[in-house]
Amino acid sequence: MNKFSFYNPVKLIFGKGQLEQIQKELPKYGKKVLVVYGGGSIKKNGLYEEVMTILKAIDLEIFELSGVEPNPRISTARRGIEICKKENIDVILAVGGGSVIDCTKLIAAGAKYDGDAWDFVSRKAIPEAAIPFGTVLTLAATGSEMNSGSVITNEETQEKYGWGSPHVFPKFSVLDPTYTFSVPQDQTVYGVVDMMSHIFEQYFNNATNTPVQDEMCEGVLRAIMETAPKLLNDLHSYEHRETILFSGTIALNGMLQMGYQGDWASHNIEHAVSAVYDIPHAGGLAILFPHWMRHNIEVDPERFARLAVYVFGVNPEGKTVIEIANEGINNLRDYWTSLGAPETLADYKIDSTNIDLMVEKAMVNGKFGNFAPLEASDVRTILKASLQ
Ligand code: NZQ
Ligand code: ZN
Repeated sequence: MNKFSFYNPVKLIFGKGQLEQIQKELPKYGKKVLVVYGGGSIKKNGLYEEVMTILKAIDLEIFELSGVEPNPRISTARRGIEICKKENIDVILAVGGGSVIDCTKLIAAGAKYDGDAWDFVSRKAIPEAAIPFGTVLTLAATGSEMNSGSVITNEETQEKYGWGSPHVFPKFSVLDPTYTFSVPQDQTVYGVVDMMSHIFEQYFNNATNTPVQDEMCEGVLRAIMETAPKLLNDLHSYEHRETILFSGTIALNGMLQMGYQGDWASHNIEHAVSAVYDIPHAGGLAILFPHWMRHNIEVDPERFARLAVYVFGVNPEGKTVIEIANEGINNLRDYWTSLGAPETLADYKIDSTNIDLMVEKAMVNGKFGNFAPLEASDVRTILKASLQ
């Protein structure tokens, strides 16, 4: 293991009926609340009404920012920051998926900053404070509800980057599986692909002696893979929604990656693809990750083979390490395809036209990937393999 310190101050409030906890949590931070949400799913499933009823009952002064897009945009965050500054907002409540929460994180930090909030995303400036905020999560995927990361798109410059700060850990996050019942089939699949990808990003690392972390990663992956097909057959199953919701949080709240640094190259490439094409984050990952694996199999074949045996059910008997590893990657591809995830960039009508642009965007900070550092030529190879 590498030496490490672990810090995660998020109060996680999980289970049916837990929404009412916001009555206790929000007033701790003040009177004026900005409620941030997306394109309307919370109005359709009744959550908006429930939240508003609670906020009115505790006599908070309510402001709203609606219309946060999937792949949240800097222009929307700027609108939120303006409201916070003008109205002296005390606390923010994000109600939605990862995009709403990520946008809220930038609003929270941007409201305490005199410059333009894009400075944080482009790493020109580091946040020194943030308005406190809580979240009500409606989609199991990103882990944003219990981490300090955020991914923001600049639609004008076609850039999409992750940034983070200890100041933007949510103060609390409410996770009631019931509110994820209305997540449609495709978004449910994307969520599953995203959380699995987060575990892969961490599993592929260069540390030694991580048996506990390895078993935790493999165990969570097996639980997700066993549950996802059952959930897709019964989108209103509380039990399966509960398992998937919990898995999404555990996958990226820092617990699995104590003692090592994950790879994260596939995410970097995906962010470049969705910066140019605005496709769903996990749709991109479902296409790219198996190609990243094939491209890097030689870096540590034993690692890929272990994953194949422990997670993808490959029988190793009579096979070489490379054969086992390859069979595992094929099984992952088949599994994601069986869930309905996309397989090629052509599924999003993306052809080779902008490959150079995507490579350039992925390489903006130079070589990347902690397990297998990638050059521009590697990124191009992975993107080309993903086309068809
Ligand atoms: O906008 P609304 O109307 O709410 O609809 C959303 C949106 O269209 C809908 N949805 C959410 N909850 C729903 C629902 N529909 C019905 N019922 C519900 N209960 O689902 C659509 C997608 O929502 P979004 O928030 O975009 O999805 P997700 O949670 O997958 O977030 C994706 C974003 O997170 C970033 C991605 O890059 C992408 O921008 N990521 C953030 C990370 C982090 N902060 O740690 C890590 C991830 O790797 C990821 O990069
Ligand atoms: Zn992700």
